[in-house]
Amino acid sequence: MIAPIKKIAILTSGGDAPGMNAAIRAVVRACTYYSTECIGIYRGYQGLIEGDFKQLTARHVSNIINKGGTILKSARSTEFRTEEGRAKAYKNLKKENIGALIVIGGDGTFTGGLKFIEEYNFPIVGIPGTIDNDIYGTDKTIGYDTALNTVVEAIDKIRDTASSHNRLFFIEVMGRDAGFIALNSGIGAGAEEILIPEHNLGLDRLVDSLNKSKAKGKTSSIVVVSEGDKIGKNVFELADYINQHYPDYDVRVSVLGHMQRGGSPSCYDRVLASRLGVAAVEALLDRSTGVMVGITNGQITTVGLNKAIKMNREINKELLKVAEITSV
Ligand code: F6P
Repeated sequence: MIAPIKKIAILTSGGDAPGMNAAIRAVVRACTYYSTECIGIYRGYQGLIEGDFKQLTARHVSNIINKGGTILKSARSTEFRTEEGRAKAYKNLKKENIGALIVIGGDGTFTGGLKFIEEYNFPIVGIPGTIDNDIYGTDKTIGYDTALNTVVEAIDKIRDTASSHNRLFFIEVMGRDAGFIALNSGIGAGAEEILIPEHNLGLDRLVDSLNKSKAKGKTSSIVVVSEGDKIGKNVFELADYINQHYPDYDVRVSVLGHMQRGGSPSCYDRVLASRLGVAAVEALLDRSTGVMVGITNGQITTVGLNKAIKMNREINKELLKVAEITSV
């Protein structure tokens, strides 16, 4: 018979996302509920290598469900990419009698977790936490909904000044190589154009579309540019180009940056994080490993970590159409 898991550790890694604290809270409390000890690892995989551990009880995670960021801190560890780093990490887990690990993060976090499973056969379950929403196997990642709301609020404010001055604004949003934030916030904020890496609009079409907007009587325009988009690769160069070739436009650029990662999580993210935290503990206690817990069509699901990272999440083509139709 396999011995039950007595100690589960948890870490957050990569870019922080609103709702990570709600997930940590759910993991700690599910461990308490199932009489399993929970160990918090600080600063992601780097803290695992350095043995930066602290026991977490249900009361340690009081009053954090509403807080942005991660109480466990986060890091992108280069040392964990080395065999020596991972060997140190394994030694620390064994020394503390930790039987399994929950990692909250995005593709980098899961890639590290997979490598560790391959080398040490150590039980790991992943929870998708990234504002980018670029993980396969879940309808949404933790933090994405809050980031969308933050972006829409910011664009609404920019719209006020764009409209007052008859200006054309290029607003760059995060998403690394994925356009989910740009496409959905662009529709939600009523942008005239949305530039995303998954669907190359081309410079000519952009200009054509802006001209048409003008001809139709629009006095100001908002273009949402995903940071990974090809023509918007450098949003300032794009704005310069438009300025030089179309001097009629009074162009401005706004890069929203890291404000998109902060703030109190939305109710949606808190519920998502709570469900996934409980599901991750239950998956480990059921002896699952090498999987990510997600929510698909409202139900808890699991998918292999390798699939979660490698399979492409498709952009919903209907959204492209809606964006086009609603910006006439
Ligand atoms: O993955 C989350 C994310 O915010 C991306 O959208 C962005 O490209 C990247 O992280 C920024 O990373 P850093 O905070 O390390 O600059």
